[in-house]
Amino acid sequence: MKIIRTIAEMQEQMLRLKSEGISIGYVPTMGFLHEGHMSLMERARQENEAVVLSIFVNPLQFGPNEDLDAYPRDFDRDHSVAESQGVDYIFYPSAEEMYPKDASVQVSVVDRTKVLCGKSRPGHFDGVATVLIKLFNIVQPTRAYFGLKDAQQVAVVDGLIKDFNFPIELIPVDTVREEDGLAKSSRNVYLIGEEREQAVELSKSLQLARTAIQGGERNPLKIVDMMMRHINKNTSGKVDYIEIYSYPELQSLETLTGKIIIAMAVKFSKARLIDNIILNVE
Ligand code: PAJ
Repeated sequence: MKIIRTIAEMQEQMLRLKSEGISIGYVPTMGFLHEGHMSLMERARQENEAVVLSIFVNPLQFGPNEDLDAYPRDFDRDHSVAESQGVDYIFYPSAEEMYPKDASVQVSVVDRTKVLCGKSRPGHFDGVATVLIKLFNIVQPTRAYFGLKDAQQVAVVDGLIKDFNFPIELIPVDTVREEDGLAKSSRNVYLIGEEREQAVELSKSLQLARTAIQGGERNPLKIVDMMMRHINKNTSGKVDYIEIYSYPELQSLETLTGKIIIAMAVKFSKARLIDNIILNVE
């Protein structure tokens, strides 16, 4: 496994692979790897001849009051996880390498970002899109793997790849969960005391919603209200949003029908957790 820290060397290695006709599976991450990231690497390993993992905590996608400085980092551990998953290249650039000067061009994501995390984290998806345009041009992957845990990110990347004609196949991968149902996240380490037990109520409330829909409920307001009450009653967290949209278009629905996403964000004292389910409603 090779660790590469400069853009020039990464592009050189990737061009060499491409000239040999080798398929490249790419998993972009911010590190502190867990089983969610591992499932993306595993899938990339199955479907490609070469696997590239990038680890870069992208300052551009953090808001001024967010957890950029506190974001957990552990390169040594990430290195052994990547090795055990059969990764061939880790791209591990510094912030100076990625952003050596002020930008001459700014990216602004205008579709699919006025709701969910896009609304509560202004500028977040502009930062995600900016770094991904750079990373896609540096790695030039055949396929890129993204987790549905961040379903809005998948929707935004889908738009990005189509709008800018990146010759990349987007592969969405299902959310990996703890045994009790909590979606795996690098931020789960910031749950304090009872919050860890309470955090399971996010996925429980999504399951309640699923059951209600299976039982015939089609009114999104009623589902949201039920979930809101469940979270408020069973956790000390503060609901940032609980919303239901069509997926991946993220359009509002008066009646639940077709492919939909039920998504939520809840703030605990030091961690803001997100979770969602995507359902096909008859
Ligand atoms: P990060 O939060 O490190 O996540 C990297 C990838 O792992 C994302 O595609 C995310 O959806 C996926 N992932 C995280 N938890 C998961 C889980 N429990 N199950 C399945 N997949 C999971 O997302 C980012 O980094 C950044 O925004 C990035 C795309 C790297 C751009 O900076």
